[in-house]
Amino acid sequence: MGQNVVLDIKHYSKSYGASKKAANDINLTVESGDIYGFIGHNGAGKSTTIRAVVGVLDFDEGEIFIDGHSVKDEPLECKKLTAYIPDNPDLYENLTGIQYLNFIADVFEIDEEKRQTLIKKYADMFEITDSLGDLISSYSHGMKQKVAIISALIHEPKLMVLDEPFVGLDPKASFTLKQIMHDMCENGAAVFFSTHVLDVAEKLCNKIAIIKNGEIIEKGTMEELTQGQSLESVFLEVEDEK
Ligand SMILES: Nc1ncnc2c1ncn2[C@@H]1O[C@H](COP(=O)(O)OP(=O)(O)OP(=O)(O)O)[C@@H](O)[C@H]1O
Ligand SMILES: [Mg+2]
Repeated sequence: MGQNVVLDIKHYSKSYGASKKAANDINLTVESGDIYGFIGHNGAGKSTTIRAVVGVLDFDEGEIFIDGHSVKDEPLECKKLTAYIPDNPDLYENLTGIQYLNFIADVFEIDEEKRQTLIKKYADMFEITDSLGDLISSYSHGMKQKVAIISALIHEPKLMVLDEPFVGLDPKASFTLKQIMHDMCENGAAVFFSTHVLDVAEKLCNKIAIIKNGEIIEKGTMEELTQGQSLESVFLEVEDEK
């Protein structure tokens, strides 16, 4: 395995019960510095794949490695390296924002000084500092998402995995998140995320995989894939063909 491979998905397959495979023989490699977009129609298998990567969903076949550690055999190692922001963050509603962030910081054993610095930095960036003392139950969807993102960033993950992160974020917060993704990747981390917003993916990602009915039908660098066309037209074309 190359030194700079952060996420390696090898022959991953998953079925829910006896039904047909929701993910079928998925192979995909994310390297340090990549902002890797995962696109595909509703029900294609994006969340199913993402949830296996971050260790919240068991899988039948294949192997997934994070920085060389097996998700199956070394789950704790993998979780230390990974941040996961689900499509619908389910936070502890009866905690305040700051209590929640401190709880996550405790789980990841982040020292006092570092957590304070990072919470302040990201809360300011997402303009949520003034609301951190309020109960999460009083937050809007976007505010909850911001807290989920901050909680993911405070342990400085090597791999950030996001499931449709731009849904529900206001334009400023989307811009901030994109900036953070760039910063992380410049520092050697990697980002893997699903999205339906192809304009954003086209501008943001250096690599893309397209999944259809549980199978990867196209993957590569943005230049290889688009060759001057828009990502949207390439997507619609390959979706139709394959
Ligand atoms: N818990 C579950 N039990 C049974 N089937 C499921 C479950 N979760 C997902 N599926 C099925 O697996 C397939 C892939 O679903 P998945 O949620 O991974 O799609 P997706 O690409 O994330 O779609 P979307 O863009 O709508 O979020 C779908 O056919 C879906 O019906
Ligand atoms: Mg999904």
